[in-house]
Amino acid sequence: MPSMRETAGGAALSAQAAAERLSVGLGPRSYDILVGPGLIARAGALIAALPEPPKRVAIVTDAHVAELHLAALERALADAGIVFEAFVVPPGEASKSFASFERLCEALLAWGLERKTWLVALGGGIVGDLTGFAAAVLLRGLEFVQIPTSLLAQVDSSVGGKTGINTAAGKNLVGAFHQPRLVLADTDALASLPRRELLAGYAEVAKYGALGDEAFFAWLEEHGSHVVEGDAAAQMRAVAVSCRAKAAVVAADEREAGQRALLNLGHTFGHALEAETGYTGALLHGEAVAIGMVMAFDLSVRLGLCPAEDADRLRRHLAAVGLATDLSDLPQVDWDAERLLGHMRKDKKVQDGRLTFVLVRGLGQAFVAREVAEDQVRALLVETIAASGLGRLAVG
Ligand code: GLY
Repeated sequence: MPSMRETAGGAALSAQAAAERLSVGLGPRSYDILVGPGLIARAGALIAALPEPPKRVAIVTDAHVAELHLAALERALADAGIVFEAFVVPPGEASKSFASFERLCEALLAWGLERKTWLVALGGGIVGDLTGFAAAVLLRGLEFVQIPTSLLAQVDSSVGGKTGINTAAGKNLVGAFHQPRLVLADTDALASLPRRELLAGYAEVAKYGALGDEAFFAWLEEHGSHVVEGDAAAQMRAVAVSCRAKAAVVAADEREAGQRALLNLGHTFGHALEAETGYTGALLHGEAVAIGMVMAFDLSVRLGLCPAEDADRLRRHLAAVGLATDLSDLPQVDWDAERLLGHMRKDKKVQDGRLTFVLVRGLGQAFVAREVAEDQVRALLVETIAASGLGRLAVG
């Protein structure tokens, strides 16, 4: 994995040596990811240093992030001579509704978007997905920049060009692949995250180790607690390694024809848990992914693919940093195996009616499995629910 330091981009970059520059190699649509402290304050100069930079940008953010970071971004843009307007949406998943998307588009158009206006997403995954989709479709396509402020957005959703909104039928079912021109992962922003949100994002960090990089997983076993306790150097390394892993996968398979699907480790189970808890905030996406990854490892053990010790290592590590790892950690939910299977059957990854899982041969050795017998999944769910001492056992 390359470990390039910033070398290009002029005075704006050379003034700060601390950020790491990674690249997502997609030919003419290639772009850089910068990971490090103080990047929001440098965003104007960094955007101005790109080829054919914008004279005007529309910042999209949510009310909570605006309070913390909008003033710094506005100063940075003004200092670089970039004209801007901020569009503030309410925090929360409701901002990814069709209605909210329409309001945002109308507001942007009323302000006076032009083809050369760029959008800048300042916030977590919700803001990034919403803004990216607006950029994909407004005036048939605008350039945009991702400035992710949550750990989850820094290591996952801001990189790779998946954008979209939710529908009544499910999350992210309307969207587009639309790559940003630049991603600025300002690791200083992590200091203002609530611990629960940081931990949820950490699940996606651990995912990169669990799916394809055992050495990184071993590093996390040693330093993961530093990441969640706010150690700046550990956070920067965790974000940079995660982004580098994601950049490599996206460069090889932008539209998820093959290996990009590995990034869904824990997501078939996780999405079902999220759907069951109703996206109410009872279970954050990353929390669901943590439990989902453990279930994917448990399923792999049950199928004789993976040593039980590796599943135990994953469970132990996630629990050690403070994440829930099992349904029994969420005793308030009345889990039901058939209902969870029902959610899985509606997953975007279902092919010819068959469930798709990312399974493992061990830590760091994930693969996509399309032939998993539903009975095996049902048996795992029934056992897991029974072990929790809760939920209904009359299934199957
Ligand atoms: N979050 C999974 C992906 O970007 O493919």
